Amino acid sequence: MNEQEFYQWIGAARGWRFEDIRSELAPEPFNYYALLAEHVHEANWLDLGCGSAAGLAALIPPCRHYTGLDRSPAMIAQAQATLAPLGDKVTLCVADNFKAAPGAGFELISARHTPFHPASVFALLAPGGRFITQQVEIHDKAALKDCFGRGQNHGASELIAEGYRSAFEPLQPREISLMTYDIDEFFATEDDLLALLQSTPIIPDFGQHPDDMAAFSRYVQAHATPQGIRCNAHRSVLTVIK
Ligand SMILES: C[S@@+](CC[C@H](N)C(=O)[O-])C[C@H]1O[C@@H](n2cnc3c(N)ncnc32)[C@H](O)[C@@H]1O
Repeated sequence: MNEQEFYQWIGAARGWRFEDIRSELAPEPFNYYALLAEHVHEANWLDLGCGSAAGLAALIPPCRHYTGLDRSPAMIAQAQATLAPLGDKVTLCVADNFKAAPGAGFELISARHTPFHPASVFALLAPGGRFITQQVEIHDKAALKDCFGRGQNHGASELIAEGYRSAFEPLQPREISLMTYDIDEFFATEDDLLALLQSTPIIPDFGQHPDDMAAFSRYVQAHATPQGIRCNAHRSVLTVIK
């Protein structure tokens, strides 16, 4: 299954929400949703790769208009169900982040854990508008990926956000800033970690390689702690002001 097929499949199965997977993150040096919340007021807001719009219902009411797009119809159907109470403040479209977006002159554009084209995003921003993206970074779940010998961005050396920053710099934004963290994340039980791997592309085609369940058991045994099964969460937030 390629990544596009994967998101359509998981979108239909459960959307992009993980409240039932019990995990505890060490204190975050910054929080993406809190950063967004500072800029939603009265904003015409475009959200790329919105998935099922988890975590956004409380942020949308103060904005002027929210447009969410995702190329997976199943994710958009989930987002429609989540955001239905917000009525015509919300527009949701099946669309590709890399193709023409609905509208222009956005005061706020966001992209959480989804790819995008920097020059197109910059063109869609109003003067003074703000783009905020969080990416799952290259060392996320690093020991787990080592144990499987594969994983998303396994072995990459340049931060995803660094690549994006380099692409924005020649466009001469008014401001550009990058923050990262790499912190512990504890999964309550092995079933919680198993559910994560079955619902995300962290280990592509998890369960389909002959050694996968043995690798999973080895990881659980080696990383069990009184707080739970230790993993790590590596994240970046890049902010660009036009
Ligand atoms: C990891 S999920 C994140 C969803 C949401 N942003 C969130 O944080 O809950 C990635 C989403 O990006 C979407 N996606 C990936 N590539 C895309 C593209 N080129 N255009 C539009 N959506 C895309 C997927 O369908 C999926 O819903």
